[in-house]
Amino acid sequence: MSRTEHAEVDFDAAQDLPALHELLDTVQMKNGWAKPTPSLYPQPKQVFVPAHWRYRDARAALHAAGRLVGTEWAERRNLIMANPIPGNDYATVRTLVGAYQMIKGHESARSHRHTPNAMRIVLEGSPDMYTIVDGVKIPMLAGDILLTPNGCYHGHLSESDQEGYWIDFLDAPLVQHLGPMFFEVHPDALEKSERVDAHSPMRFAYADYRPRVADAAEIAPGVRSLELGPPKLVTFDRVVLQLAAGTQWQCARSTANRIFTVIEGEGVTHVDGRTFEWRTGDMFALPSWYPYRVDASRDALLLRVSDEPLMRMLDWYRVDMSAGQ
Ligand SMILES: [Fe+2]
Repeated sequence: MSRTEHAEVDFDAAQDLPALHELLDTVQMKNGWAKPTPSLYPQPKQVFVPAHWRYRDARAALHAAGRLVGTEWAERRNLIMANPIPGNDYATVRTLVGAYQMIKGHESARSHRHTPNAMRIVLEGSPDMYTIVDGVKIPMLAGDILLTPNGCYHGHLSESDQEGYWIDFLDAPLVQHLGPMFFEVHPDALEKSERVDAHSPMRFAYADYRPRVADAAEIAPGVRSLELGPPKLVTFDRVVLQLAAGTQWQCARSTANRIFTVIEGEGVTHVDGRTFEWRTGDMFALPSWYPYRVDASRDALLLRVSDEPLMRMLDWYRVDMSAGQ
């Protein structure tokens, strides 16, 4: 710009800063010298809070919803573990959502696909209950973990007399934040499928991973850890943790957001002066930058889902060893 070109606004007319700020408003600019909240700060400011949800509550509510929410909404007959902070009705932690879901006996939930990556752990299943992933029927037995990555068609079908319960995990809050959300229903509503594949790479069978975690190396006294994969999802991982009764597992705070599900057992999580007494089927959220301690009062098996792969990919994974461990 040459010096002879004039600004649209005569900023030289401003006699003081308030007057300059007023003129800045007319050209849709904000000053950086008197910003009310800093844009950069010394360490993470966590807005989300640690939280705990009980399966016995979720199960009873979903059973009731089975009477009141019709089959046409079956794929949305779920309970969202929205973090209890003002203005939030979805995310469990900043990047991830966890939701309890139920399908009635001999019911189906229409097939669809979306850009968010999804995963589920079955709480109450049956050999006659399936997730159909890209045309293949994958059995859903209790403890099984099933993947439906970005873009894969998936629907649910029960040929059982029993209600089936599971927990879904999605990176949808992250996708909402970044923008690339796409969702579509399958043209056949429920995707046609004849082939059953219990050995699909999209299924981590409880019967397979349970003995493997028992044989895995200890990562802390009384704690064994098994990361399930491949395949891996780009944004979040799944780690099965076995805690022996009496274990007290102190975990340093890190930049990863985590959601735990109790596959088996009972225990207590201590975080931020609070205690969560958990048992089978419960979930608890541990947002990033909170140190916490997980105590097993009985032998326990936990599933930990976290955005650690995302943080590592972006080179933003940090652990604060000074604050516990
Ligand atoms: Fe889905």
